[in-house]
Amino acid sequence: MGSLKGTVAIVTGATSGIGAATAVALAQAGAHLTLVGRRAQLLDEAAEKARTYGVQVLTQPLDVTDLAAVERCVAQTRERFGRLDLLAHVAGINTPKRNLRDISPEDWRRVLDVNLTGVFYFVRAVLPIFREAKRGSIVIVGSDSGLTTSELAGVAYCASKFGVTSLVHSINLEERRNGVRACAIQAGEVETPIMEFRPEPPPAERRALMLRAEDVAAAIVYAASQPPHVNVEQIIIRPTLDKPYPEAQELLARWRQG
Ligand SMILES: NC(=O)c1ccc[n+]([C@@H]2O[C@H](COP(=O)([O-])OP(=O)(O)OC[C@H]3O[C@@H](n4cnc5c(N)ncnc54)[C@H](OP(=O)(O)O)[C@@H]3O)[C@@H](O)[C@H]2O)c1
Repeated sequence: MGSLKGTVAIVTGATSGIGAATAVALAQAGAHLTLVGRRAQLLDEAAEKARTYGVQVLTQPLDVTDLAAVERCVAQTRERFGRLDLLAHVAGINTPKRNLRDISPEDWRRVLDVNLTGVFYFVRAVLPIFREAKRGSIVIVGSDSGLTTSELAGVAYCASKFGVTSLVHSINLEERRNGVRACAIQAGEVETPIMEFRPEPPPAERRALMLRAEDVAAAIVYAASQPPHVNVEQIIIRPTLDKPYPEAQELLARWRQG
């Protein structure tokens, strides 16, 4: 594997769950970081943790749906570090009311805006830097729900993650000739705070079977640390005991009754 030591990465979703674990994993690998999320205090805490590994960290409290803020973040990263090697885009949401029978147009729009348009904004902002350098890595946390539609995950979430899968294909189709590579991390269930947004958060026994945020962070580091001629285009990572999920049918029956 190549080394990430001295490289520069932007990590979105760095205040919680997979993004917070990714910030630590990249810092351990020696990458300087720009950390992105809306909650400034949690960003500062994530930055402090990363700095203990001897790397420099810039924090950018922003909403990924704010195009001007995203463009400023990328420009400030380049200004501060003089280079950019990796976009690790992790930020994403889901909503409790998530099925066709109960999702509101506002929740639909918000999920698509954050999970897909926000990704596009960051990709669009970093590409000119990568094209100029003739190299760059984009790793986006998609989902199992970007491969198989799931009633548990909901309509907007699945549509957004299928969109992410397609966006990653598009980056590779259009930009590989410029030395840019993109990877979708298609993760199954991960034990993070996003689980609290389910209509019925999973019980402790179910959570104990799930992936840990650090497992997904390690997959991101694996994809990003390949030598430039290697493109890991997709990683599917699921809990070993993922299927069958007998309680799911019972759970869905309860959700359907409202
Ligand atoms: N957990 C799973 O089972 C699972 C499985 C597959 C894929 N994923 C994906 O993994 C990614 C991370 O999720 P997680 O499980 O780690 O959940 P999480 O702990 O809830 O983390 C979500 C992160 O996204 C950030 N975020 C949300 N909306 C944002 C916005 N508008 N602007 C900027 N940042 C925003 C949050 O930061 P702020 O609130 O501070 O803004 C937080 O850092 C998501 O894309 C999710 O879809 C999760």
